[in-house]
Amino acid sequence: MKAKKILVTGGAGYIGAHTAVELINAGYDVAIVDNLSRSDKRLLEGIEKITGKPVKFFEGDCRDRNFLLKVFQSEGPFSCVLHFAAYKAVGESVEKPLLYYENNLNSTIALVEIMIKCGVTDFIFSSSCTVYGQPDQIPVSEAAPFKKAESPYGATKQMSERILEDVSRNNIRIITLRYFNPIGAHPSALIGEIPLGTPNNLVPFITQTAVGVREKLTVFGNDYNTADGTCIRDYIHVVDLATAHVKAMEYLSQQRETKFYEVFNVGTGIGVSVLELINRFKAVNNVELNYEIGSRRSGDIEKVFADPSKAMSSLGWAAKFTIDDSLLHAWQWEKKIRDK
Ligand code: NAD
Ligand code: UD1
Repeated sequence: MKAKKILVTGGAGYIGAHTAVELINAGYDVAIVDNLSRSDKRLLEGIEKITGKPVKFFEGDCRDRNFLLKVFQSEGPFSCVLHFAAYKAVGESVEKPLLYYENNLNSTIALVEIMIKCGVTDFIFSSSCTVYGQPDQIPVSEAAPFKKAESPYGATKQMSERILEDVSRNNIRIITLRYFNPIGAHPSALIGEIPLGTPNNLVPFITQTAVGVREKLTVFGNDYNTADGTCIRDYIHVVDLATAHVKAMEYLSQQRETKFYEVFNVGTGIGVSVLELINRFKAVNNVELNYEIGSRRSGDIEKVFADPSKAMSSLGWAAKFTIDDSLLHAWQWEKKIRDK
């Protein structure tokens, strides 16, 4: 039987590359589209090394309908499109809101337009737990209402979700995955996250400090209403996140309806504080970390973690890696890219 063809946009980025590996290893025929605006070609090489297969890569922009049409016509028919391509830096989105609205919304709209034109029905979208803001109930389930987005980035995810829910009434079948905090790297240390400039996210900042690229980590506040005073998040290994996409895609393909829209949280269900994470990182990797307690970062949520029960029961998915695995793999990857 011929392998099903899957389109992965943003597949030269962090989560898209890990998902491409899981798809190829599961026997799918993957085509990657990326404009390389926020990526590093080492990830495409890493996918080839892990899977032992050449990557079908098409450099171009998801807002460019002519480019997309060519890829759909030459590489299709696709049984599913997994859409990772977007800008994701929260701080940058506050400084340059139009850049974020323009890229994140227009790429999604153009892609769905071309899918409809080419008769492709199945679509998986990368959303974020940022859509919940500080939820009233924790663990947070998919039924929780959106709070006003803290940033233009968060607003693009809320708006995209609304657009996709509306579009799903036009015979498109869509699953939105709301990721909690993706961390770690592939256990082979052949792919991982390569932040551009100074990282905003905690784990890349920790690994860069431990490896000596940054002088010290600042813990953003220890006066929150949590056991040790620091914020709590649900950190999920990027390979577990990648396998959730394969499960979601297969679940979608089994649906009989022509109109379909469903949302799933993708998290572990376990809340970990900033200080707990730092201490696990030091213990697992047997390294020191220079850090200090600083003031709160504006816009930070005190505490959030997922209720992942819907993904577990409907998709048959559950996170397999532990927080220690994630921190070990993140450290192995950091050392690898610094050649240590
Ligand atoms: P990433 O920046 O590593 O990857 C995104 C990729 O998309 C990059 O390779 C970039 O070059 C590409 N891209 C951006 N705009 C494009 C366009 N118009 N056309 C073609 N390619 C384009 O980010 P990531 O961490 O892999 O995130 C993937 C998706 O998951 C994004 O939609 C992001 O918003 C979402 N997400 C990420 C996180 C996280 O913490 N990493 C959390 C929640 C949701
Ligand atoms: C950030 C984004 C969110 C996005 C998510 C996943 C903000 C405000 N929110 O969330 O929209 O969906 O990433 O990509 O940026 N921390 C420190 N010191 C640091 C860095 C972080 O103490 O140098 C703390 C933060 O205060 C937070 C925790 O570590 O409590 C995790 O931070 P981060 O990795 O940036 O993720 P989020 O804040 O959850």
